[in-house]
Amino acid sequence: MSKIKLPSTLEGKTILVAGAAGFVPGHLCEFYLGLGAKIIGLDNFITGSRSTVELLSKNKNFEFHECNIFERLPDFSKNKIDFIFSLASPASPIDFDQIPVEIMRVNSEGTLKLLEVARAKGARFLEASTSEVYGDPEIHPQVETYQGNVNPIGPRSCYDESKRFAEAMTMSFHRHYKVDTRIVRIFNTYGPRMRPNDGRVIPNFITQALKNQDITVYGDGQQTRSFCYVSDLVQAIHNVMFCDDPTPFNVGNPDEYTVKQAAETIIKYLGAKSKIAYRPIMQDDPRKRRPDLTKLQKISDYRPKVTFEEGIKRTAEHFKGLK
Ligand SMILES: NC(=O)c1ccc[n+]([C@@H]2O[C@H](COP(=O)([O-])OP(=O)(O)OC[C@H]3O[C@@H](n4cnc5c(N)ncnc54)[C@H](O)[C@@H]3O)[C@@H](O)[C@H]2O)c1
Repeated sequence: MSKIKLPSTLEGKTILVAGAAGFVPGHLCEFYLGLGAKIIGLDNFITGSRSTVELLSKNKNFEFHECNIFERLPDFSKNKIDFIFSLASPASPIDFDQIPVEIMRVNSEGTLKLLEVARAKGARFLEASTSEVYGDPEIHPQVETYQGNVNPIGPRSCYDESKRFAEAMTMSFHRHYKVDTRIVRIFNTYGPRMRPNDGRVIPNFITQALKNQDITVYGDGQQTRSFCYVSDLVQAIHNVMFCDDPTPFNVGNPDEYTVKQAAETIIKYLGAKSKIAYRPIMQDDPRKRRPDLTKLQKISDYRPKVTFEEGIKRTAEHFKGLK
């Protein structure tokens, strides 16, 4: 596999970003606005934030449409679209519990609608899949060739299985209609502009540490996770969008922590007085998570740059600034 050549500018290019008001997509929009692209953002705010759209809208190259992508997309008949990022999906365990049907619909019907736009416009399409496609993995670290251990009817299945479906649909459009597609499998990512009450590990721990409350750890805390700071993730996604391989790539940070270590480290970095409070483990909680990044590193010189300490401090600063 040869190394990719990244564009120095995307001036004159139009990028459609589904989920633009969300955490990762908002950072991705900022990155591409910085490269001079025009962005068309779509979101229905089910988990996204209006303040992210207000921030992005300061740039004249950002255009926004409020819409539910699995119901109806705006009329793009007069638009040129060069790239499509399919990032619209709630992604937190709290969402799996509260809006499972919306999650299944956006990853299936929503992805289908976006792929149809890619086909009609001749645009390159990237699907934001997830490490959850590996379920509770039996091999470690996870390589892209591993086919996963997913419970199809468990409480996480609305997300895991609909993302697996989205990957299958993406590959079907690639094989059958020759659409130019990419797939990234995103591992745990954190950073500023996550919802403080998001329900995912890092925002939970930071929010509790900033209030000196007990840090809630589910199970014995020996399950592992690998946490990627959002700017490193955006760089990895960019690298995959500009490679020429349609098969899935793991993207994330390979540094692995037990959840207990992550809690202790956050308490230390933030100088909190919190203790750890253990609660019963959630069903189908994966025991181990670490991306094998060999494939990504064959096409690019990708190395995460932001340390866990720096990332936690930047995220905590953001949470402190919220009213
Ligand atoms: N953050 C992570 O650790 C992580 C890990 C794996 C995969 N991902 C994937 O990355 C993408 C972004 O995740 P995030 O963490 O930024 O989540 P997020 O919830 O902040 O962003 C998702 C955005 O999609 C929007 N959305 C959801 N359903 C929609 C619909 N039907 N129509 C229009 N907009 C809709 C939401 O309002 C939100 O703004 C998702 O596809 C997610 O599955 C994220």
